[in-house]
Amino acid sequence: MSDYTFLCQQLYSLCDGVSGRISVLSNSAALLYDTLPDINWAGFYLTRGNTLRLGPFIGKPACVEIPFGRGVCGTAARSRKTIVVPDVHDFPGHIACDAVSRSEIVIPITVGSALYGVLDIDSPLTDRFSPADKNGLEAFVLTLESILSELSDPFSAPSAADIVLDTIRERRSIRRFKPELPPRELIDKIIEAGLYAPSGRGMQATMTIAVTNKEFRDRLAVVNASFWNVETDDPFFGAPVILIVLGNRKRPTYLYDGSLVMGNMMLAAHALGLGSVWIHRAKQEFEMPEYKDLIASFGVGGDWEGIGHCCVGYVDGPMPVPANRRKNRVFFIE
Ligand SMILES: Cc1cc2nc3c(=O)[nH]c(=O)nc-3n(C[C@H](O)[C@H](O)[C@H](O)COP(=O)(O)O)c2cc1C
Repeated sequence: MSDYTFLCQQLYSLCDGVSGRISVLSNSAALLYDTLPDINWAGFYLTRGNTLRLGPFIGKPACVEIPFGRGVCGTAARSRKTIVVPDVHDFPGHIACDAVSRSEIVIPITVGSALYGVLDIDSPLTDRFSPADKNGLEAFVLTLESILSELSDPFSAPSAADIVLDTIRERRSIRRFKPELPPRELIDKIIEAGLYAPSGRGMQATMTIAVTNKEFRDRLAVVNASFWNVETDDPFFGAPVILIVLGNRKRPTYLYDGSLVMGNMMLAAHALGLGSVWIHRAKQEFEMPEYKDLIASFGVGGDWEGIGHCCVGYVDGPMPVPANRRKNRVFFIE
């Protein structure tokens, strides 16, 4: 059994006076690789938005980006819990970087309240990591967390532009949600992102109805499905929050305005770690007297057209992989 207390002391000594996170992480990986018997990969994946990006490591070249929820690393990142996999073949969705790896341990690293990344160690032996190894390596990560939190710049700092562009690239339509309701504070942030969308002549001619009441949501799902010529149990795919966007027909740009509100809200949901999907047929719903009366009950007046439902919730399962972007859709005139 490895002496993890000594390993933690070695880590402290190695990092004493070191100011750069790359140096800290590289030497941590080297220390583990050099000390622990029967391992073939030791290193870090670091948080970048809703994905993990390859950090310092020792071993064979590895997968560069792992979305939260995918494979052992992505699952540990999403749950923020250590995962020990005695046999990687038994782990559904395991991402194989080295065919000889048989067992794996992944430990989340948090600095402050933020998920910094994960420590990932692979072994060519089955069942390499005992409960004592798990405890010892968690202590190692605690030591590392305290070293990282002392650094003046512990986080790799992607530019604001990178964060926005990654959010746009990585958002996907989610079609499997968990039933838990996200906190109100996150729902409010998503709605606020919609309120800041551009609008024709700045008239802000849109309205958002935020549905979190399960009874109302379930009835709306039945109504929505009745306008769809596809058999479905739930056209909202289990999402617990339905943000219905409507546009005021008085404004000639109401459809564009409402679509931008939808787009902003879907991006905000992704940026906040939630999933979303645009579900259509809000137009048909809000032609029904039942829902026209609902709008009248708000006392806002006007002629409102349903534009879309931004269905929001926690993603159940891995993030969908994006389709390839179709070619010949951009033309420059220079
Ligand atoms: C105007 C509009 C209506 C949509 N309606 C539905 C819908 O009713 N049901 C659904 O499952 N997805 C719907 N979507 C989602 C699209 O199918 C999805 O955006 C598309 O497949 C691309 O996938 P991505 O969002 O992951 O990039 C809609 C999207 C848009 C923009």
